This record gives sequence, C-alpha cells and structure tokens, in this order.
Amino acid sequence: MKTKHSNSKQDDPVALIIFGVTGDLTRRKLLPAIYQLVSEELISNPIHIIGFARRPWDTGKMKDVLIEGINEYARVKPVDSNIFHPLFKGVKYIKSSFENEEGFQKLNKFIDKIGYKKVLFYLATPPNAYITIIENLYTCRQYSKNKSWVRIVVEKPFGNDLESALDLEESLHHCFEEQQIYRIDHYLGKETVQNILVFRFANGIFEPLWNRHYVDHVQITVAETVGVETRAGYFDNSGVIRDMFANHMLQLLTLTAMEAPYAFNANSVRDEKMKVLRSLRPMNDKEVMHNTVRGQYGKNIQGNNKIKGYLEEERVRSNSTTETYMAAKIFIDNWRWANVPFYLRSGKMLPNRATEIAIQFKQVPLSLFNWKNMAGDAPNVLVLRLQPDEGINLSFGAKKPGQTNQISPVVMEFCYKEAFGEIPPEAYERLLLDCIHGDQTLFTRNDEVLEQWRYVSGIINAWGEDPTLKLPQYPAGTWGPVDARDFIEKDGRVWREPS
Ligand code: BG6
Repeated sequence: MKTKHSNSKQDDPVALIIFGVTGDLTRRKLLPAIYQLVSEELISNPIHIIGFARRPWDTGKMKDVLIEGINEYARVKPVDSNIFHPLFKGVKYIKSSFENEEGFQKLNKFIDKIGYKKVLFYLATPPNAYITIIENLYTCRQYSKNKSWVRIVVEKPFGNDLESALDLEESLHHCFEEQQIYRIDHYLGKETVQNILVFRFANGIFEPLWNRHYVDHVQITVAETVGVETRAGYFDNSGVIRDMFANHMLQLLTLTAMEAPYAFNANSVRDEKMKVLRSLRPMNDKEVMHNTVRGQYGKNIQGNNKIKGYLEEERVRSNSTTETYMAAKIFIDNWRWANVPFYLRSGKMLPNRATEIAIQFKQVPLSLFNWKNMAGDAPNVLVLRLQPDEGINLSFGAKKPGQTNQISPVVMEFCYKEAFGEIPPEAYERLLLDCIHGDQTLFTRNDEVLEQWRYVSGIINAWGEDPTLKLPQYPAGTWGPVDARDFIEKDGRVWREPS
C-alpha cells in the first residue's frame, strides 16, 4: 500500500475518518483546527468527516456536538457558519466497536461508494484501541484500492513502554509505509517550539555560543498548574515520565541540542534529532536514583480553596506511587555538549503554568568588578519562553545608575504578542495542514519513538527496582518536592522560578 501522488489532484476531497470521534480531542482540538484552516483558505481540499466510535450516536448527533465544539473552541471568533456548513456536507457517523469487522466493512463500503481518492485515518481513541483498529483496517483494506493517497495520524502515547511501542510499530508497519504514518506530539506543532530551530539556525550570533565552551547548563521546564483532572484512569498508569518526559520533554531536548540539519526537510531534521537521542548518556540503576527525583502532589489550602492531594483524586489508587512530578539530570555525550548538564523537570499542580528552555551561560573568566553584584554570579541566561507568555529574553548585568557601584540584572526581551500582535495558530492547525500536504517534519519518526522509549525504560526499570511505599510529597501549588531542590543545589545551581 504505497502512497502515490501521481493521479491525485491537489483539491481532491479528503475523507477524514476519525476513530473515537465522540471523545474530547475531536471536539476541542481537531474540528476547531480544521475550521480555522478552512476559514483561512489554507486548504483547498473539501474535507468530509466520517466519525467512527462506540457510543450510540447518529450522524445528526455527531454533527451537533462537533458544531458545538467549533463554536466553543474556535481560535478566532465569532465563528462563521457559512464556513463550517460545507464541512458537514457528506458527514457520516458509523457506530461500531473497534473489534467489530462489520463496522470496518461498512466504513470501506462508504469510502468506496463516495469514491474518495484521499483517505486520512485519525486515531483519536484511547491508545489501547490502536492496534485493534490498525489490524482491522488491514483486514478490511478495501480502501487501499485505487486510492491516490492514504495516511494515518496516531496520537501520543505511542505505547506504554519499549515493548508495547515495538508492538504498535510492528502493527503500523504491517499496514502502512513510514511515509504514510503521522505520529503527533503536539508540542512540535506549537509556534514557539517551531521557532527553536529558526532562532538557532536563522541567526548567526547565538550558534557560536551554543556549546560546552559557553553554556554552563540548560534547564527545560514544563510546569502545569492543573492536576490530573478527569484523566486519572490514564495518568495513574503513566505518570509524568510516560505522559510528558518520554515525548514532549525529550523532543524539546533534541531541538535544543541538535546540530544544524543539511536542509530543512523531514528526514534531515529528524536524522539530527535522532543523533541527540542516541547520544544520551545511559544511566545504571544507581545513577538513575542519583540523577532523578520523583514526587506526588499532596493536599494544600490556597486562600479559601482546599486542593486535593493526588492520592485523594477520583480513580487514583489509594496506594499509588505514580509520580506527578519528575526532574532528571541528563548528559549528552557528544562533542558539542560533553559534560553540560541538562536539567529537565515537569510536574502537575505547580505554582505557575510555564514551559521554557533556559540556557545558562558560564561566568566571565575573571571578575574585574569588585562591586556589589546583584545580578548574581553568572547573569547571562537566555530563556525561550514557549508558553504561555511566549517570547525570548536574555539577561545580563548592567551598572545601576548612581554613585554606588552595583551590577544589576537587566533583560532584553522579545514578546510574540508585541512583535506580531496576533493569536498564534494552535498546534493542531499546523499539524493537520502539514499532514494534508504530506510534510512529516513536525511528526515523530518511528526510530525516534523507539529511542525515546529505550532511554526512558532505563529510568522506569531502575525506579521499579527500588519500589517506594510512598513518594515524597509536595504541597499542591509549590515547586515540587524538597529533594528536587536539593538535587540541583548540590551541583551548585538553582532551579529558575518561571513567573
Ligand atoms: C499532554 C499530556 O500530552 O500534554 C497532558 O497528556 C498535559 O497531561 C498536556 O497536560 C500539556 O499540553 P499543553 O499543550 O497544555 O502544554
């Protein structure tokens, strides 16, 4: 089943088959993104939506829910119904379990009857249904006859560990070629994340400093203020390591650390990211315990609000040792980064929502100013603020005006909102557009996924070798467990507190 572009017209309609169409992702992210692309005339193809799920809905109900989703979550409002009406032309809901071959046969018949030349499958279901769906697509693969192109989008998590990721990959590759598979890590679609490579490789002035000679260490933070919300059932079996670290965080690390690709295309970018993943210094069990910290949020009171601890959340096991916070010190064993620590941390129920990459530069070689240094010892830090307050700032020390000699910290600042003045597109807009155009640059390749799991499995296994009865707790709304602070401070460094 190869992708053939030869006899497909640019504006042939696309049949978008959404498995799990009844879930939140479709309503909150996919449909609003498609609406936006259509309203900006970024896609010329008419999109025909076919929903496939278990719930006893019909086509009318699906249409209502999706329109409601567009109205509520569209990025640009007011919503124009003249734009979304054509989207629902030819819409169809197929009610079926994912195990039931008949449902897939019905789907195939429908696709064939309409005669779509472009078919895009979207897996928006819980991940444990992926393999069943893919295998059923294969057994009922009528759709592959005479189709110009067939693609499949898979949402993270891509497996739950290395073994299950290998199973998923095997099943995907049984049915599809790698060029047909679009694995979504939605962080890669964020404007600010795309800008990491532009910032690094479209500007000459930073690159000479971007290495072990000038960089003391790097901090990558993905802090969330929310807890597990309604997703405890999934999260309690995943933890931050599988939910955030094995994908979003390692992707941010690769973009920060990679070499310049020879060209800006899918495989050359992903080849460079792969080299970083392969260079991650493996840790034995003892090193894992030394270089990682876990924690769980505990209850707290903020103002008049009582915040539940993780163990009190609905659908969390009362003796759960799943981490809601983790920090890790990672080394990349290559010439550029030898012995530069990368400190990564992510947690739920932290004081601020902030995702940032901070490059902390080294001290000056000789301190000339015997002044009161309020800027700190090494005041040069470059911060890529990925969200929410998107921008970039560079701090340095300046003489504070006045008769006393003081070096004060000051900041040079770029702010997206001020510079560009518009609400940046949602990650899903860019990712769906690229998928329709056949550009895989912002999608994770299979070798990346497996290498990410290979690295992370070492940590998970070491944690499993040291079963903990109770994880260190941090009061909800604080910056993680005390151990996390000690862990970086023993290296003579401190965590930043993004505001
Ligand atoms: C998802 C995780 O991939 O990313 C969630 O499963 C997390 O647990 C979310 O909350 C964070 O995404 P964003 O775009 O809000 O930073």
